Amino acid sequence: MLLHPRQRHAERLGELADRRTARAEPLEDGAPGRVGEGCESQVDRGMILNHWVHYNRAQGSAAYARRVSLRWTLIAPVYDRFMHKTEEGGVRELRRALLADATGRVLEIGGGTGLNLRFYDGAESLVVTEPEPAMLRRLQAKAREQAQQAEVVQAPAEDLPFEDASFDVVVSTLVLCGADQTRSLGEVRRVLRPGGRLLFLEHVRSEDPDLARFQDRMNWLNRLVVGCECNRQTLAAIEGAGFTVSRVEHTTLPEAPKFTRPLIVGAAVSP
Ligand SMILES: C[S@@+](CC[C@H](N)C(=O)[O-])C[C@H]1O[C@@H](n2cnc3c(N)ncnc32)[C@H](O)[C@@H]1O
Repeated sequence: MLLHPRQRHAERLGELADRRTARAEPLEDGAPGRVGEGCESQVDRGMILNHWVHYNRAQGSAAYARRVSLRWTLIAPVYDRFMHKTEEGGVRELRRALLADATGRVLEIGGGTGLNLRFYDGAESLVVTEPEPAMLRRLQAKAREQAQQAEVVQAPAEDLPFEDASFDVVVSTLVLCGADQTRSLGEVRRVLRPGGRLLFLEHVRSEDPDLARFQDRMNWLNRLVVGCECNRQTLAAIEGAGFTVSRVEHTTLPEAPKFTRPLIVGAAVSP
């Protein structure tokens, strides 16, 4: 059978991961892995590597990973600088206040470069996922400095390598604008225990019709540059996934372009 080079590459990645899983070889640089204590068990390692196989296959081809990686490979070195004014302008404090409620077994999806890591004082255990290798490397480095208890796992939000009901809290900050919302929220709901909470901080479609129309017009640019949608109705998506929103603040992303400013910060309870 003739295969497109991308398909061949995807199959090759799958085979390599299969072999790694079978032999339980040590994790390689850039392969999915964890930092922190207590992550050496064979079971844990097997689970993550299995997930790596699944990740490449579930996405159909490595083109997905390559395409997104190019953008995030370019953004990763400048992400913290790019966010600096926004963080200083108030988002850091919004993160701090939101994450004061991150207690028990906590999972963060799309952890990026780890801007939330310093705020997890109340977590009993912490797992942070991130699919993009360039962001993941920075996340791992920051976890070593700021959150040694954290386990860092390479995984997309749409395909989380964890057992059902294994977390008390899931955190998503500026992730549901880019990830597939239906699949990601389905996964978040699956890995949360009943009554568990989703803590979110997401930029969304404005409730002001004029601004919403402007966001619609600018969405192509936002998608091109940062790979996310600035006009998503994320609160409705959270409710649509079966969560009950227990609190939400409608505010703005400081020092950001007008079309990415509308922001929701809050919590939702899993059924
Ligand atoms: C705007 S950054 C936000 C990073 C971090 N959560 C923060 O608050 O600074 C978006 C992050 O989502 C990650 N991402 C992209 N696609 C994703 C997906 N399908 N699942 C999970 N994370 C994803 C990106 O690699 C990036 O790290």
